[in-house]
Amino acid sequence: MAEKLAIDGGTPVLQRSDYKNWPIITDDDRRLINEVLDSGIMAGGTAPQVTALEREWAEYSGARYCLTTGSGTAALHMALAAVGVGPGDEVITSAFTFLASASCALHQNAVPVFVDIDPRTYNMDPSKLEAAINERTKVIIPVHIQGLPADMDPIMEIARKHDLFVVEDACQAHGAEYRGNKVGSIGNVGTFSLNNFKNLPGGEGGLFITDDKVLLNKGMLIRCFGDEIDEVSHRRIYNASILGYMYRNQELPAALARAQLMHLDERNNTRIANANFLTQELTKIPGVIPPYCPPECKHVYFMYNVRFDPAAAGVDCEPRRFRIAVEKALYKEGMLVGQWQTMPVPAQDIFQTKLGYGGSSYPWTINEAKGIKYEYGTHDYPVAKALCDTYTVVHGIHAPNGVDLMKKFVEAFQKVFADLDQALDHADDEIYPGPDGKLYGAG
Ligand SMILES: Cc1ncc(COP(=O)(O)O)c(C=O)c1O
Repeated sequence: MAEKLAIDGGTPVLQRSDYKNWPIITDDDRRLINEVLDSGIMAGGTAPQVTALEREWAEYSGARYCLTTGSGTAALHMALAAVGVGPGDEVITSAFTFLASASCALHQNAVPVFVDIDPRTYNMDPSKLEAAINERTKVIIPVHIQGLPADMDPIMEIARKHDLFVVEDACQAHGAEYRGNKVGSIGNVGTFSLNNFKNLPGGEGGLFITDDKVLLNKGMLIRCFGDEIDEVSHRRIYNASILGYMYRNQELPAALARAQLMHLDERNNTRIANANFLTQELTKIPGVIPPYCPPECKHVYFMYNVRFDPAAAGVDCEPRRFRIAVEKALYKEGMLVGQWQTMPVPAQDIFQTKLGYGGSSYPWTINEAKGIKYEYGTHDYPVAKALCDTYTVVHGIHAPNGVDLMKKFVEAFQKVFADLDQALDHADDEIYPGPDGKLYGAG
C-alpha cells in the first residue's frame, strides 16, 4: 500500500525550513557595500564600483567592453537602439522567454516576431528561424533560457547570411558556455540582468557587453540621455546628440554584483551538481522529463525545469491536468514548485490586442498601413505551448542548498509518482496560496 500523500492528509516529505535562501550574503558583500558607504559616492557613470564591475564582467565574459545598466530590460533596449533598430523594423526572438526579450523591440518602435522552440532545449529552434526573416528583419535575439545556451552556431550563420545583428539575451545565463565561449560574447551585443533572483544578483541592474567600439560608444550615449562627453575633461557637456534614456546603474548594486561575481563559478557549480543529481534520479521515474543539456553547452540552471508525460507514467489523463495534479501534490509534500511563464509570450494579451503607444496599435500600424498583417496566433508556437502545459520549475537548486535537499526532492517525486491516482483525485483542489495563482514565484 502506497504511503498517504500530503495532499490527502499524509506527512509532507519536507518543510519550508529545509530551504536556504538566495542570494547568499557573505563578508565580501558587506565589505564592498561598506566601501561604497564610506566613499560617499552613490552613483555616477564613471563611479568606482560601476567602473570596476564593467572591467571585471568584461574580463569574466571574454568581451572587450562592458557597460552597467539599470536593468536587463534597459540593456536589451539599449542594444537595439545601439545597433540602429528603427520604426517598423522586425526583431526576432524566442516564443518561450520573458516579455522583455520582445518588449525591447516595441520600445524601439519595432515589431517583435517569434520563433517556436526546440522541444528538448526549450531554446529558439534554429530550423524555424529563416522562415521568420524578411526584408524588415534587423536583429535576432536568441535567449539562453533558464541558463542553457541557445544553439548559437546555426543562429550566427543565418544572421551572417542575412546581414542581421545578434543581441544575446543572457539575462538568465551568467557563466553559461557554448562550445567553450561564455554566452553574451558570441553575438554583437550580450545582455544580462542583475535582478535579485539571477545567478549574479545585484538587487536590480543589468550589463551590456560587446567587442565593438562603435556599439560601446553608442551604448554609452544612449545610457545617459544621449549626452555627449567632453573628450578632454570626460565630463558630460549637456548637449544630446541622439535620443537617449536614463539607464545608468548605481554604486550599491554594482558593489553587490562585484562581491557576488567572486563566487559566481563556485555557486554555479553547486547548481550544476544539484541539477545533475536530480536529473540522474528523476530520469528513473517514468513520466518525469528532466532538462536536457547538449554536450556542447554548459548549463548554469538559473531554473530547473521538469516536464511531465502522463502516457509515459501509465496514466490516461490530459497532459495539462496531469501537470497541475502532480504540481499540487509535490507542493503539498513541501516542495517549492510552480510555473514561471504560463503561456508562450506571443499569447500574452499585449500581442493579442496589439495595444501599443497611447492605446493605439503603434508600432504594428507602421507596417500594417502598408498591408502587412501581424497575427500572433496562439497555435503558431505549438512546442512552446505544449511546454507551458506540461512543465514546472523545481525551485531551490541554488547554493547553499545541496544534495541533502535534492534527495528530499527525489523522495517527494517518488512518493507522488507511486500513487498518481491519489494525486489526480486532488487535481481540482484549491491550494494555490498566492493571489497571482502561482504556487511559488521565481520573480
Ligand atoms: C530572459 C530575460 N530577459 C530579460 C529580463 C529582464 O531583466 P530585468 O528584470 O533585469 O529587467 C529577464 C528578467 O527576468 C529575463 O528573464
